[in-house]
Amino acid sequence: MMVYFDARSAAVIADPYPALRALRDHDPVHWSDRLGGWMLTRYDDIRRSLRDPRLSSDRMRPFFSHLPEDARRELRDLGEHMALWAVFNDPPDHTRLRGLMNKAFTSSAVAALRPRIAELVHELVDGLLERGETDFIRHFAYPLPAGVIAAMLGVPRADVDRLKQWSDDLGSFVLTSRLSPDKYTRANTAIREMNAYFGDLVEARRRQPADDVASALTAAGERGDFLSRDELVAACVLLLFAGHETTTHLLGNGLLALLRHPDQLLALKDNAEDEKAVSAAVEEMLRWDGPSLAQVRILADDYELGGRVMRKGDRVFQMLAAANRDPEAFENPDAFDIARRDNRHLTFGFGIHFCLGAPLARLEAQIAFPILLDRLKEIGLAGAPDWSDSIVVRGLNRLPIHCSAA
Ligand code: HEM
Repeated sequence: MMVYFDARSAAVIADPYPALRALRDHDPVHWSDRLGGWMLTRYDDIRRSLRDPRLSSDRMRPFFSHLPEDARRELRDLGEHMALWAVFNDPPDHTRLRGLMNKAFTSSAVAALRPRIAELVHELVDGLLERGETDFIRHFAYPLPAGVIAAMLGVPRADVDRLKQWSDDLGSFVLTSRLSPDKYTRANTAIREMNAYFGDLVEARRRQPADDVASALTAAGERGDFLSRDELVAACVLLLFAGHETTTHLLGNGLLALLRHPDQLLALKDNAEDEKAVSAAVEEMLRWDGPSLAQVRILADDYELGGRVMRKGDRVFQMLAAANRDPEAFENPDAFDIARRDNRHLTFGFGIHFCLGAPLARLEAQIAFPILLDRLKEIGLAGAPDWSDSIVVRGLNRLPIHCSAA
């Protein structure tokens, strides 16, 4: 059977799961002309491939080296900066960059944020209640993680909106927007400005360390393997970027899943005091319609899977959202069941690049949902959700809701 994944169709953007199921059932190692790469959709194939060094994460250097000469010159800042992100590197560079980030982004630094997260959630719920009818993304799901990661990095709150604009401009490039044509020049300008901003921050922390991740990174770089100024700045930009967009989508997609399953919403409300139950519910939000649609790799060597030979240099899209609904890995995979146990979803990736911020993203959602459900006695959809067209991240641009405390 011939199957075709129309990445740009509005129906697929709104609900990719039927199309992903068709691929997984009929062509699990699929060549997509439209995406210019292979699409893997089976849980086992993806999990195995995520541990295979032939699938390289070093995909920015080849991308920029294939651009025409004048485009390469114009986008030089972007190319040089992105090549320093841990997530776009293989060992040994990845090992060094990740090792230094691990030293700064510790579990105690995450746990210390607990009171700040709860305080921010309450402030934002006050705002939702004042508005009554509002966009949940704009007034809750975006400002919560942005405020938390800014606090963790040591960025003043007044600058958060400026960072959001840069991050959005960068996002349409990194997250492979399907529809925006000027994404490269916008991303290049954003990187130039972010480089200057974080360059100043790192310099300030070198002179006078504070209790934040930017200071810890700077200190780790000076103590251990030397982290160049550019690498330090790139680590800050990566944390800022990775730290909010995805978590925004966990909160947005998670709330939408609950609103579309009122029985599950009630069950969560009834168990909001039970940490284990809340944690299981958040894992199910991550699995059932989590923020990760796909990851991208470049083949460093030929790779054979399911009788297909993929060639060195080919792009591979590991469709995490398809893996998370694979019946070989999950019982009744299309059911949204917040009591699901043994939930080995791949939403945070797998292997050496496993998400550094997973404990923080989980903590934010585990704190946010009980407070939201406790304080918003009435909550419902006030319009159609508007989905982003990224091929990598799955999330909402807008989620109109109405709510009240009575
Ligand atoms: C629900 C929210 C989140 C999701 C779904 C998510 C997802 C992911 C995924 C799938 C990867 C692996 C990428 C790859 O293998 O190519 C990753 C890596 C990463 N994430 Fe997250 N992430 C989330 C939140 C965060 C947060 C809050 C932070 C930081 C504050 C963060 C920082 C990172 C970093 C630094 C990496 C690169 C790790 C490496 O290359 O070794 N993420 N994330």
